[in-house]
Amino acid sequence: MKGKSYLVTGASRGVGLCLVQQLAQKEGKPLVFAAARSPEKYAELQDLEKEHKQVHVVRLDLTDVETIKAAAGEVNQILMTKGHDGLDFLIQDAGTSEDLVPPLDTPDDMLKLVFTTNAVGPIWVYKYFRPLVQRSQLKTMVFFASNFGSLTLASEPLRNPEKSTPLDATQIAYKASKAAVNMETIIIARDARDEGFTVISMHPGVADTDMGSRPQEVVEEMKPEVSPEETARLQIQLYDKLTTEDNGKFLDYKGNKLPW
Ligand SMILES: NC(=O)c1ccc[n+]([C@@H]2O[C@H](COP(=O)([O-])OP(=O)(O)OC[C@H]3O[C@@H](n4cnc5c(N)ncnc54)[C@H](OP(=O)(O)O)[C@@H]3O)[C@@H](O)[C@H]2O)c1
Repeated sequence: MKGKSYLVTGASRGVGLCLVQQLAQKEGKPLVFAAARSPEKYAELQDLEKEHKQVHVVRLDLTDVETIKAAAGEVNQILMTKGHDGLDFLIQDAGTSEDLVPPLDTPDDMLKLVFTTNAVGPIWVYKYFRPLVQRSQLKTMVFFASNFGSLTLASEPLRNPEKSTPLDATQIAYKASKAAVNMETIIIARDARDEGFTVISMHPGVADTDMGSRPQEVVEEMKPEVSPEETARLQIQLYDKLTTEDNGKFLDYKGNKLPW
């Protein structure tokens, strides 16, 4: 029997790199597709591909739909060549964020870039990779949202001003685009439910990465809660346990349910 197959976007650094590094070591030798927009810039990714013959690096830029179509074609070809029915896990980790500034200080082109990357790109990835996932037994898709994309949590300081911090009115593009990701999960979970897909939104925790270290620049207490290695380890365990009962849930890396 063939091992499982995984594709992780944003595999060049941060949580995405830890995911592909750990998946490459996982028992059962899964087939791992490490998707990055500029793989040539990252020696660690190239080394991973050289060290593990079941790891394949593919180019995928969330802002460029042609690269997404090409990546889907390349992954499809490799799956078929290696005798896999389909792609078991589509893990959409890649994302970007703007500076921690108020809405009016966010540059116009940054608003567009963050929305395209975080909210439009994942829909394109769903569209062009869906047929590959559809052919697998496990049919699992993970959309990386954030606790910052929860409307319930974000509106808490409006209800309880004593819970307010200087972070609340910053990063409008990042937070709104992650709220959009949550809506995408809900719609896609419904769209794909009858074919046996499991589609979830993931909050990886405030992880000690380039992105996750930034809020503490504004609010000291916002220190990262988890290392990228640990969140990746717990996520991989969680993904192994997901069933169709979990379709349409918003979970954190420990498997706790979060409010939309
Ligand atoms: N870290 C946290 O505390 C935290 C909390 C909540 C949610 N998240 C979410 O978790 C995910 C991973 O976060 P992280 O902390 O690992 O972030 P990170 O270290 O900043 O890494 C971001 C990754 O996304 C890739 N990326 C950015 N723009 C892209 C594009 N246009 N096309 C393809 N890839 C692109 C980056 O590639 P390059 O190397 O080429 O730039 C990099 O691999 C993100 O979706 C983030 O929003 C993180």
